[in-house]
Amino acid sequence: MDMYEDYENILTELKTHSHFRDLKDFSDKDEKYIYYRGKKLLNLSSNNYLNFADNKSLTQEFLEQIGCKYSFGSASARLLTGTLPVYKELETLLADLYGKEACLLYNSGYHANIGISSALNKKGDIIFSDKLNHASIIDGMQLSQGKFFRFPHNDMDALEKLLIRERENYKNAFIVTESVFSMDGDISDLRKIVELKKKYDCGLIIDEAHAFGVFGEKGLGVAEVLGLIDDVDLIVGTFGKAVGSMGAFVTGSRTLIDYLINKSRSFIFSTALPPVNIAFTKWIIETQISKTLQKRRRMLEIAKSMGSSSHIIPVIVGENKDTVDLCEVLFHNGYFTLPIRPPTVPAGTSRLRLSLTCEIEESELAVLKEKIHENLLVKQAK
Ligand SMILES: Cc1ncc(COP(=O)(O)O)c(C=O)c1O
Repeated sequence: MDMYEDYENILTELKTHSHFRDLKDFSDKDEKYIYYRGKKLLNLSSNNYLNFADNKSLTQEFLEQIGCKYSFGSASARLLTGTLPVYKELETLLADLYGKEACLLYNSGYHANIGISSALNKKGDIIFSDKLNHASIIDGMQLSQGKFFRFPHNDMDALEKLLIRERENYKNAFIVTESVFSMDGDISDLRKIVELKKKYDCGLIIDEAHAFGVFGEKGLGVAEVLGLIDDVDLIVGTFGKAVGSMGAFVTGSRTLIDYLINKSRSFIFSTALPPVNIAFTKWIIETQISKTLQKRRRMLEIAKSMGSSSHIIPVIVGENKDTVDLCEVLFHNGYFTLPIRPPTVPAGTSRLRLSLTCEIEESELAVLKEKIHENLLVKQAK
């Protein structure tokens, strides 16, 4: 059949350019380790920043406390019969932590971002989005009825020029940015963005997916560190990363949250997360994150010594094949890393995205640093 041939050709093309993705067979994961191809490896490719996922003793502690109280399926969307007390308790907890009027849970960060941008950005409205924002933000804008512009990554002059040129042509405007960028590990210039948002009468949405749980004394993210929470209209955070659970939240004014409850399709038309999962997220936020402050600080210090302002450390290699080869070298030295390739990152910037987790000791990274250094030197000499 021609259709299959067409798809086969696309796959062959991906394989030719080392772009083909496949699912790996891990035999197990245990806090900072992952078991793969018969080896126990230090996992440098997860978002399990605080080691709360893949943590058997923590899971046991939680399950012993809750027993059979919460089910493993909600069997309903939130707006139908899917809102048990624990959902609202988690929403209230988060709204209170941020000092916001309201909060809404989503099934994932992907659901949150596509649901928020697509609903808020109506016909005649505009979103200004950092070029490196996550695919879910881009997809949300593409699904919306409004227009969007992508400004060069973290380039505040370019953003201001765009605002001067375009803002007055639209009714409502939002600026949207990640705080810690997922692939580059750098941090957006939130102070300047807040200044521009005020000057040009825009709303501001910050995606703290990679910062929630990690940055700030309370673990609320970069906006907490900078004292800017009150200046942000909507803060998005996810539970699938530092919290070691699943799901996401957005917190902001009662008006915006009510609007999302009524208009955000990825919220409305999807079964709510299992109550047990919501209860786990709540338990982690209430009882565990505050215990990690010292470890988080140490993790960020290690990252700093490796040249990154966050726990995500990009090692740009360039070509796809060289990146895959470097991962293989690291595998043989006890590290699990993954090549990040286009279209996830721009062509020619294939990289390792090293992500630290807070139980990793600096000494465990010595061989990794050595091997990366050797490899990049050989490449330069070529
Ligand atoms: C910045 C950012 N936002 C949102 C998401 C999506 O979150 P989730 O994995 O919960 O769907 C990701 C996922 O990696 C992300 O990096």
